[in-house]
Amino acid sequence: MLVVENVGELFLGDGRSIRSAHLRIENGRIFDYGDYGGEGEEFLDARGGAVIPGLIDSHTHLVFAGSRCDEFVMRAKGMSYLEIARAGGGIVRTVEAVRKASLDELVELALPRLARMLSYGVTTVEVKSGYGLTVEDEIKMLLAARKLRELQPIEIVSTYLGAHAVPPEYGDRRGAYVDLVVSDELMGRVADEGLAELVDVFCEESAFTVEESRRILEAGQKRGLGAKIHADQITQMGASRLAAEVGCVSADHLERIDEGGIAALREAGVIAGLLPGCSFYLGVPQAPARRLLDSGVPVAFATNYNPGSSMVESLPLALSIACTQMKVTPSEALVGATATAARALRRGDRLGRIEKGMDADLAFLDVPSVDQGLSEMGRGSVRTVLKRGRVVHESPRS
Ligand code: NIG
Repeated sequence: MLVVENVGELFLGDGRSIRSAHLRIENGRIFDYGDYGGEGEEFLDARGGAVIPGLIDSHTHLVFAGSRCDEFVMRAKGMSYLEIARAGGGIVRTVEAVRKASLDELVELALPRLARMLSYGVTTVEVKSGYGLTVEDEIKMLLAARKLRELQPIEIVSTYLGAHAVPPEYGDRRGAYVDLVVSDELMGRVADEGLAELVDVFCEESAFTVEESRRILEAGQKRGLGAKIHADQITQMGASRLAAEVGCVSADHLERIDEGGIAALREAGVIAGLLPGCSFYLGVPQAPARRLLDSGVPVAFATNYNPGSSMVESLPLALSIACTQMKVTPSEALVGATATAARALRRGDRLGRIEKGMDADLAFLDVPSVDQGLSEMGRGSVRTVLKRGRVVHESPRS
């Protein structure tokens, strides 16, 4: 039995907190918590700091090569994300870089990113393909994600995003590309070899139509993949309603969602996956987190870490941005990166909450409360990280 003692706020993940608690861990799982004199073989001193479930980053594109920092400068000079994409920048530039990179190079590039994420308290991360857009390169990205699982402690959940963009070599033969995305050769292999658990589509004027997206998501579901969608990011084309109709696990982005879309998500029980760091990075309005939460839609918050629209690796920073820009409380933000994020990755039965039997994935903060942690924006207040009860990171500052 491992006993965590001298805990400040114990944030349970579902929005409830208790104070001055012990926490007991057995065989990598939460055994119990409460105010008692702890008996055990091993002890960990939380030194009065808050203890939270390990953070879950439920939307990232962290396997990539190359840099698009010139686009950051272009935006500073007034160009928009879409204008840059139309001028030959955007996703297709990262596609070029990823196609040139070997599987091992992709792994080497991703490892330090994951190490930094771990230091922010992240114990589970979703990783999308979508910068390959050929059979070989999509599989290469997913194999890189698989290899990363073995090389470092963060749990990786892979998502197949072959429908991220129509690759330039397809020109106006977009139907042929959609055929490839859903083919036995590509989607079939992804599903059969367990290379991804989820399928995702960028449903957007500049990417895939609602009907193309429906076809891809339903094909994925038939093959046993859970569905996610990039919805209502730049234009409003009814993507959230599609998410509800198809039964997506989550609809992500939602900067342009309308009232009908909000009602559809609520009625269908679709999680809203919001990406506050992305809008902040692009300098565009945030998704209506407050309206979604107040309407009863469960909201997950993630970084959307990627080389174009969100070079934001730090999930705590994204959560602090959610507090200041979206007017959600630190507690609401953190629920969106723990309990709700776990559900957005179909792991709500095991991750994201401190409760008997759940995995003991935990982050110890060097401040006594969650409010203080997220108010100290961008500092990184994580002292120690546990994955399944094992210490996997300790801050050099601690
Ligand atoms: O979620 N919207 C589509 N995909 C990413 C952007 C990826 C990129 O620009 O490379 C996003 O914002």
